[in-house]
Amino acid sequence: MGVREFARAKSERRKLSLLTCYDYTFARLLAGTAIDAILVGDSAAMVMHGRASTVHAGIEMMRWHTEAVARGAGDKFVIADMPFLSFRKGVTAALDTAQTLMAAGAQAVKLEGVEGHEDAIERLTQSGIPVMGHLGLQPQSVHAYGGYRVQGRTEETAQDILGQAKRLEQLGAFSVVLECIPAALAREVTVALGIPTIGIGAGADCDGQILVLQDMLGLNAEFQPKFVRKFLNGECLVKQALESYGQAVSAGAFPSAEESFE
Ligand code: KIV
Repeated sequence: MGVREFARAKSERRKLSLLTCYDYTFARLLAGTAIDAILVGDSAAMVMHGRASTVHAGIEMMRWHTEAVARGAGDKFVIADMPFLSFRKGVTAALDTAQTLMAAGAQAVKLEGVEGHEDAIERLTQSGIPVMGHLGLQPQSVHAYGGYRVQGRTEETAQDILGQAKRLEQLGAFSVVLECIPAALAREVTVALGIPTIGIGAGADCDGQILVLQDMLGLNAEFQPKFVRKFLNGECLVKQALESYGQAVSAGAFPSAEESFE
């Protein structure tokens, strides 16, 4: 899978499945599945480091996670998030950031928004770096929104998102994530663009879907946004295993003779 297959999937109306991943162990598991691509999301700051927002994912954090994922991902297409503000400080800073992420093993980068950093997007795409856009709810702007809110509910904001999506395509992006926008708007953007849209909280009509791996594995029972489907009751299953281990140790039942060296 690569940018050409992304384009082909859209033309063949084959839905793309993406998941986030932040570490070698899960990357290895994903490598053995039919999932199309892996995003090393800046959500690593929240999911892996317990931070309050993605604003806390800096380039060192993203480099470290991208390296770990790339080591386990086999031939999966790995996309890495450009950290907060890293593409807003001019073209050189954006190129330096992308260089670090590509050297760490990413094959593409993702960045939020368009306005104010068109020059960086254009230079990245002209430099042979596949760029995935991210519109709708842009988590790095959470403080400007005053919380995580569905975007594009008014005619004006919907038209703005549609316009930005078209601009991203003009600038050479190969795909765009649409996060938390009404399904009808996501459908309109998907029809208007020649590049694939990847939805998260954007309804069923996008060209593909992405979820945070730990969310779809149900590893945090308390976290249940409307758009997340839990494909596993992970928190319960993992806790059961942990309790079983603790009980086996307490009871002297682990390790057994077979699990011991003579
Ligand atoms: O960082 C992330 O997890 C993301 C997805 C929500 C698309 O950007």
